[in-house]
Amino acid sequence: MRSRRSVLAVPGSSPRFLEKAQTLPVDEVFLDLEDSVAPLAKEEARGNIVTALREGDWTGKTRVVRVNDLTTQWTYRDVIEVVEGAGAYLDCVMLPKVQDPTEVVWLDTLLTQIEKTMGYEPGRIGIEAQIENARGLVNVDAIAGSSRRLETLVFGPADFMASVGMRTLVVGEQPPGYEGDAYHYILMRLLMAARTHDLQVIDGPYLQIKDVEGFRRVARRSAALGFDGKWVLHPSQVEAANEVFSPAQEDYDHAELILEAYEYYTTVEKRGAVMLGDEMIDEASRKMALVVAAKGRAAGLSRTKTFTP
Ligand code: GLV
Ligand code: MG
Repeated sequence: MRSRRSVLAVPGSSPRFLEKAQTLPVDEVFLDLEDSVAPLAKEEARGNIVTALREGDWTGKTRVVRVNDLTTQWTYRDVIEVVEGAGAYLDCVMLPKVQDPTEVVWLDTLLTQIEKTMGYEPGRIGIEAQIENARGLVNVDAIAGSSRRLETLVFGPADFMASVGMRTLVVGEQPPGYEGDAYHYILMRLLMAARTHDLQVIDGPYLQIKDVEGFRRVARRSAALGFDGKWVLHPSQVEAANEVFSPAQEDYDHAELILEAYEYYTTVEKRGAVMLGDEMIDEASRKMALVVAAKGRAAGLSRTKTFTP
């Protein structure tokens, strides 16, 4: 499982940002050909991205390129130019505004053909699917199961809010006049579809880049539900994303302790439900602990407590 706590958006039209991105401690970068790149700059951006992938130092980061969506004229050339030019230096292709599983199947097939032509390892390049309109959300189960290359679903709040007519211009914040959480259904829907198909699920951008507290607040909402990470648009958001989407040290220690204690009691003592301090643990506790421990290990945490029977 790749760590995707912080996913940095980098406009492919900006050599300066492509350079700067390499220095930031993010888990993933996506080099963008879509909405952060003006129509007249798209062709040049493809070349910038190929060069940045081939010549840059992306050590420790998952490398992704976001192509244009399938209603445009650009998608096929985006994929062909970037993957033929730098496929060996690329981990995933992100497809935006996915509305239907056939779109992902199209990308999967094109990637397979390019892999064969170029002699790349078959099936290595993954897909990230952005869900950013009503139709995409209604079809999200089928989309999530549409390709073995799929690694993650990604919520696109800005496009989504526009598509459904939600009455706020502040992306990720609640529309005034509504008492509940306007995002709860959407986030849960994505989470259920993703987990049904063993995918990760990533929250999208928070555009008020000066308001780091606002970013944290919105990030905590999706992190609490179980999301794996969130986009970051500016260096100021990176640390907050890495922190919010890593388990707390205390929770990580606790999870490792549960795993160790459970292993000891079920094998050495052959008991299935046992006490660990004041808490009863069983097979379901082990499963919850596995999730937290995996996230903690992926985040580079180390243990500060050990188990003694
Ligand atoms: C991201 O692509 C968004 O639309 O929020
Ligand atoms: Mg979008």
